[in-house]
Amino acid sequence: MIKKIIIAMTAIGLIAGAQMTAQASPKSDLKKYRSYWKSKLPAGKSLDDYADGIYIYNQDMYDSWQAIEEFPPYELDIEAGEKEYNKAFKNGKTYASCFKNGGIGIAQNYPYWNGKKVKTFEAELNECRKKNGEKPLKWKKGKLAQLSSYLKDTSRGKAINVVVPNSKGAIAAYEDGKQFYFARRGQLNFSCAHCHFDGAGKYIRANILSAGIGQATNFPVYRSKWGGLGTMHRRYGGCNKQVRAKPFKAQAKEYTNLEYFHTYMSNGFKLNAPSNRQ
Ligand code: HEC
Repeated sequence: MIKKIIIAMTAIGLIAGAQMTAQASPKSDLKKYRSYWKSKLPAGKSLDDYADGIYIYNQDMYDSWQAIEEFPPYELDIEAGEKEYNKAFKNGKTYASCFKNGGIGIAQNYPYWNGKKVKTFEAELNECRKKNGEKPLKWKKGKLAQLSSYLKDTSRGKAINVVVPNSKGAIAAYEDGKQFYFARRGQLNFSCAHCHFDGAGKYIRANILSAGIGQATNFPVYRSKWGGLGTMHRRYGGCNKQVRAKPFKAQAKEYTNLEYFHTYMSNGFKLNAPSNRQ
């Protein structure tokens, strides 16, 4: 069943209004987001600190998050991911054969437009398996999240650099993701932006809401609530469920286009994945 989606044109005020115009380009969008979020910075913080999610808004929570990072709960997952990455398929090849630079230090460039569609890192890992006669892995957690965590860890500290080439298809995919972000959905009729633009820094029930910028830096993430790792699409599904909307399947076009837009919005932020969250 297709849910009727109403675009939240007005809710984000100036920002959404400006974005929805036909002339808006990814580059000018990015400039607007960055200056919007600069104007909303908590005292003593800089734009880059938005990569810390909710911890930019609360010093005590920031301190306990940093204490956990000293012995990160995802460390064993990175090791497991590395082992899996180097394990040969039945045909003798490894994942490295499918990627530029063997997959090392390239995660900051994902997702990207391949001329036909948006490619995510996780999608390429599973495609690599299929190409080599192996069964694809489950999308949202487990081995695939471990592989992705290991490879993203090799890009830690590199600036996110998602490119939207000046082609009709790439721009349409970006615009589609942007619309998804600002569209109301679910029984609560909330868009992503209602919570992560308007609501950023405020409480919703017991949770502080993070800012929409910088969010793409830390995935896959280890959440104590999940008791393990989850990919970005697991999170998208969770946030859709929170507004009582039916989540899309991981790697559905809706989510890959959303990831394209959402990660582009974090361009210039340093990758800090995997990370840990509550
Ligand atoms: C009803 C409010 C609500 C809506 C709507 C919502 N989220 Fe969230 N989201 C949350 C809460 C609560 C959290 C956990 C606290 C936090 O990190 O913001 C969260 C967390 C996240 C995170 C993890 C941030 C981090 O630093 O780990 C991402 C990414 C995210 N949301 C993306 C989205 C996207 C994309 C949408 C739209 C499809 C969306 N959210 C819609 C409430 C919402």
